[in-house]
Amino acid sequence: MNRIKPSEITPEHVYLSRREFLKTMGIVTASGLLSAACGVTKQEDSPGLQREEELLEVYSTGDELGDPLTSYQDITNYNNYFEFSTSKVEVARLSQNLTVSPWTVSIGGLVNNPKVYDVNDLKNKFNLQERVYRLRCVEGWSMVIPWIGFPLAELITQVEPTSAARYVRFETLYDPAQMAGQKDQWYSWPYVEGLRIDEAMNDLTILATGLYGNDLPPQNGAPVRLVVPWKYGFKSIKAIVKIDLVEDMPLSLWMNAAPNEYGFYANVNPNVSHPRWSQTTERRIGDIGRRPTLLFNGYEEQVANLYDGMDLSLYY
Ligand code: MTE
Repeated sequence: MNRIKPSEITPEHVYLSRREFLKTMGIVTASGLLSAACGVTKQEDSPGLQREEELLEVYSTGDELGDPLTSYQDITNYNNYFEFSTSKVEVARLSQNLTVSPWTVSIGGLVNNPKVYDVNDLKNKFNLQERVYRLRCVEGWSMVIPWIGFPLAELITQVEPTSAARYVRFETLYDPAQMAGQKDQWYSWPYVEGLRIDEAMNDLTILATGLYGNDLPPQNGAPVRLVVPWKYGFKSIKAIVKIDLVEDMPLSLWMNAAPNEYGFYANVNPNVSHPRWSQTTERRIGDIGRRPTLLFNGYEEQVANLYDGMDLSLYY
């Protein structure tokens, strides 16, 4: 079978109709009913046969290492999202009523040109691309996910960071009325994450607005989330409302909660154990058994140079 790399697909909007897609993936029954329980938000049907074929080729081919995509069902029903629940299988149900429109994302801090974007403007302004990435959770499970998104670098360039900007700080919506988990005082809400500016500018780093050709469902971080595929999944912050360029290393929710367990860098590294478990192997959701975990989650070639001169065993 011919293999098409995601990068070979024209980086434009993705047109696969959700109906056709879900049908093809066997997610929709013969009756063709698109249940709201799928958590898929409505998107215009605008197929374009050529594009559909390309996408289905990607979807059936898997990632560049030859592994199949994780099913839509698994990606959208096994979630970490502490704002809603600490139970992965409850998140989908509990997050369905999150209001994701209207939604604005502000981007400012140490920049010459701060902006506030409506999320629809973000989707129109930046070229949405299909990116098939592995996601490796620090807990030891992993998935292969076909995201729709655009490089964060494009957004950062728009706001013109000043020379004082060294890090990027991301913040999730804070709304305990909608996100009951935020009533749990043990965590320092809102969820915050950060990247060094060169990590944020790396081409692999995207802001995702969709998966499997459709808008993100709430449980996966709608309407917009970060995806940093060479780092443990907790860096990939969901439901972002604020992005700031800052001088000092941001303190993330997890660094606050358990500084001896979750560091700032959080690069996937099989050679550095979590204090309570080994990181040498992982369970790919949908597989039986475990597989070796790859350094930088298999993206070593693209990102290892970001850490030249750093002793990786010291940075977790
Ligand atoms: N973002 C927010 N706001 N809240 C969270 O609890 N969990 C993180 C990350 N982003 C989390 C979050 C963790 S631990 C993981 S592994 C991934 O989201 C899971 O993403 P997924 O549910 O789309 O697979």
